[in-house]
Amino acid sequence: MSVSSTPEGVEIAPRHVSFELDDELKTLWHSNNVFRTAFFNALSLQFPDGEQQFINAVRLYRDKIKDPKLAAEVRGFIGQEALHGREHRRYNEALKSRGYDVDAIDARFRKHMDWVEKLPPNRQLAGTCGAEHYTAVLANAILSDPEWMQSVSPKMRELWRWHAIEETEHKAVAFDVYRQCVGNERLRKIVFLFVTYNFTKYTFLNTCSMLRHEGKLWSLRTWLDGINFLWGKPGIVRKCLPEFMAYLKTGFHPWEQDNRALLEKSLDELSERYPEAKSA
Ligand SMILES: [Fe+2]
Ligand SMILES: [Fe+2]
Repeated sequence: MSVSSTPEGVEIAPRHVSFELDDELKTLWHSNNVFRTAFFNALSLQFPDGEQQFINAVRLYRDKIKDPKLAAEVRGFIGQEALHGREHRRYNEALKSRGYDVDAIDARFRKHMDWVEKLPPNRQLAGTCGAEHYTAVLANAILSDPEWMQSVSPKMRELWRWHAIEETEHKAVAFDVYRQCVGNERLRKIVFLFVTYNFTKYTFLNTCSMLRHEGKLWSLRTWLDGINFLWGKPGIVRKCLPEFMAYLKTGFHPWEQDNRALLEKSLDELSERYPEAKSA
């Protein structure tokens, strides 16, 4: 029996889609709203180094994977994350045109990732599983809840949709590698708490860096608006809380939430604008 739990009909293959977003990223691209734009940019700024670390962590166990289905999924996972890194690196470079000090933000996160890279392999992989859980829950929310991308230009929406689709497709790959090669449930849960702390910390710091540049770091109105967006009404992050926390259950698995129908619908929508997305 295969140790891969990715269900039938989900193919994990990188899509060679490219996004030209330079004009959008010069603007407050998310609803012309300074907090929302800063928040999403803060996420993007963590992706290239973060996703490279996911690749490195899974590679540490590559030789131990004998199951051909899981081995093929690992190849697909690495290909997808490498392309996400490429597109988000371009995205982050383009942010410089608005005057953000992207290099300083990168250097701050790089220091953290240098520390992560020195951890024992089982903790690195557990960290990847935890971070992949966050991306999978956020991806499901982006694909299912229109509030996430309301009043966003179609090009920006498609970039986030593309990334969310592939995060959903490969959401169990690192997890299945962990289950087969490490399998320690306690470690998985403890490391998730560290991932939660660090993901919150760097999202917050990056958001502050963007707001400082916009002259809004000390604007009460901006923060109240942002807190309302994330935690009040619509409260996009608040709505995700039960799904985030599900990870702490013994026996949790990413495909407990079977969102294949959402995946298919989202892929149809993406390929209306990017036909090459279908022929992955
Ligand atoms: Fe990714
Ligand atoms: Fe991922």
